[in-house]
Amino acid sequence: MARVRSGIPGLDELLNGGFLESSTVLISGGAGSGKTIFSTEFVYKGAKDYDEPGIYITLEEGATNIWWNMKNFRWDVTSLERENMLKIYKVGMINPQDFAEGFEREVNRIKDMIDDIDAKRLVIDSTTAFGMWMGSEQNIRHSLFKLSEELKNMDVTALLTAEAPGGKERFSRFGVEEFITDGVIALYFKPPQRALFIRKMRGTKHDKKPHPFEITSSGIEVDSKQEVLWESLE
Ligand SMILES: Nc1ncnc2c1ncn2[C@@H]1O[C@H](COP(=O)(O)OP(=O)(O)OP(=O)(O)O)[C@@H](O)[C@H]1O
Ligand SMILES: [Mg+2]
Repeated sequence: MARVRSGIPGLDELLNGGFLESSTVLISGGAGSGKTIFSTEFVYKGAKDYDEPGIYITLEEGATNIWWNMKNFRWDVTSLERENMLKIYKVGMINPQDFAEGFEREVNRIKDMIDDIDAKRLVIDSTTAFGMWMGSEQNIRHSLFKLSEELKNMDVTALLTAEAPGGKERFSRFGVEEFITDGVIALYFKPPQRALFIRKMRGTKHDKKPHPFEITSSGIEVDSKQEVLWESLE
């Protein structure tokens, strides 16, 4: 099975080479744990270093905010956008009253964008925001499942972010997101320590210990050689 390089220094060796192609992976963590930086780096490096077009879909922060965040790391977003290698899209508000219709409209828009630039990578930041519009747990499970199936059919490797509500074994607000995705990567921030842990990754061997990571002026860097004690993360 082909591997998709994460683009995050130090991470691929923990993943036995990278993400499996067409898989969906949940990036879970508390406020400020690095979910947005992690997932923008995945899309940016994919376009820049691996020639794989990518789409970054934001539900919370405005597209301009995401754009500035990327600029902050001196990532050259503008020329990649011009070359149709990278796209940042802010999802329109979906009215909870007619959620099904609105959801389908947005999914179709996303599929058109994937076709347009032949995207291989995609991010949805965050599924928690999506979930808030969906109402019931059943709706969330159904819609996220449908979305990840569509992405799989289009051969897109996707990262979905999720707010973790606290407690190192809780990976999402609604408690269903981590069962739908093929993989889960948990990000922790226990000041001053940041750590990353691969909770699951279907269909592949992977590292099983938490590792320290840093957010530097050029993005996230994982120290695959060092370990963080699981007990210290509580
Ligand atoms: N240029 C930088 N250098 C070092 N650290 C930075 C830099 N920019 C941001 N950070 C750190 O990254 C954190 C934000 O990371 P990010 O936005 O990815 O978190 P998040 O998990 O998406 O948060 P939220 O839950 O609010 O969406 C900041 O709080 C800060 O600690
Ligand atoms: Mg964020």
